[in-house]
Amino acid sequence: MSNSSTATTQWVGRWGFVLAATGSAVGLGNIWKFPYMTGEYGGAAFVLVYLACILAIGVPVMMAEIVFGRRGRGSPVDALKAMARESRCSPLWSLTGWMAMLCGFLILCFYVVVAGWALSYVWKSISGGLGLGNVEAYQALFGATNASPWTLGGWSTLVTLITMLIVGKGVQEGIEKNVNWMMPGLVVLLAVMIVYAFFSGGFGEGARFLFAFDPSKLTAGALLAALGHAFFTLSLASGAILTYGAYLPAHRSIASTTVLVALCDTLIALMAGLAIFPIIFANGMDPSSGPGLIFMSLPMAFDHMPFGGIIATVFFIMLSLAALTSSISMVEATIAFLERHTRYSRRALSVMVGVVLWIISMMAMLSFNAGADWTPGGKTVFDWLDYLTSRWMMPLGGLLTAIMAGYVFNRQALKDELAVSSLVWGLWQFALRYITPVGIVLIFIDALGWWAI
Ligand code: PFF
Ligand code: NA
Repeated sequence: MSNSSTATTQWVGRWGFVLAATGSAVGLGNIWKFPYMTGEYGGAAFVLVYLACILAIGVPVMMAEIVFGRRGRGSPVDALKAMARESRCSPLWSLTGWMAMLCGFLILCFYVVVAGWALSYVWKSISGGLGLGNVEAYQALFGATNASPWTLGGWSTLVTLITMLIVGKGVQEGIEKNVNWMMPGLVVLLAVMIVYAFFSGGFGEGARFLFAFDPSKLTAGALLAALGHAFFTLSLASGAILTYGAYLPAHRSIASTTVLVALCDTLIALMAGLAIFPIIFANGMDPSSGPGLIFMSLPMAFDHMPFGGIIATVFFIMLSLAALTSSISMVEATIAFLERHTRYSRRALSVMVGVVLWIISMMAMLSFNAGADWTPGGKTVFDWLDYLTSRWMMPLGGLLTAIMAGYVFNRQALKDELAVSSLVWGLWQFALRYITPVGIVLIFIDALGWWAI
């Protein structure tokens, strides 16, 4: 059983962990990234590979993180130290925790910029800044949003402030209380979007695009993108899930909770696709128009539709809620770590961490305007943060997590914590020991450019 003597903080509500972890998982990755990746990699074929990656790699690694978090009861560094101690193996394994904590923080540094776009479009849709009527005008609007460091910086600063305010209030009073209304709110707004998309006239085409199977599109590139996205979308190797797992009460089943969270994340990504593509098709637009899909094509499509103005607001509020429930999870690991190892209060730590976050995020923000030409090593700061975290840190963290749970840590301890049938245990171990390492090594070979895709 878990060492409950150190378990001071736990989720209060029956659904506390599920809502918080689903809130972490469901984010810009689902609504902004998944639809345009699906567009880019040809629809259903990509979806299928993605589902396989979630099931064979994402779910097992997520289970491992929750097991570590709950058994070790603490931030990624502390939890892995405790696991290593119990397993009588080297404390150096906790370096994985350092990397995860850093990874979550670095993701947040560019995530707040994208979340800032979302918030700014909520404001535009309410204040009559949308309804431009043609694509060129929307391109110009998105360009203008990015062009001024003051505007873009203002919006991302607002995201940083809200995030740190919520986290600063604590796990129960801040995180749990807010996900308790934000997640149901998100689901209701998404449901409104789907019903609306259903009557848009493009639903059949949109659904066919997402679900029609064309094996010729199953390229190696699609496979690697799907695998990389599986980590990002489930918030893995970033300290978020592990730290939330540290607050999970001892009697909850980790296996079924994980499956539930992964299922919700996947369903919401598919539903976002089902909400977006019909509207795009009904208005004769290109499904694979990159990141501009959400901030240019979609608002443009709303203009052509009845109640489009209201729906635009619904959509961007939904996007902002998704982003906020994710952003708070990215910094919780760092706060939990500092709370244990310093004398400062959570509130004070949130201010200090918020300032560091703000400074780095401003550098990422400048990648879209004043600093666009500053490309050390061929990438902007924004692109570096994205590249380092999703191409290197997340896969490496996932690999080390799989190795620790599959080969290194005490098997009896893992078994006790997981408490599953021997069949599920066997499947879990097989996925961690063989499937995950092979998949991740392929990502690295690709990242190193060792084969041409
Ligand atoms: N899972 C989030 C998304 O799909 O947008 C992104 C994310 C959240 C990544 C939290 C990492 C993290 F720690
Ligand atoms: Na996600």
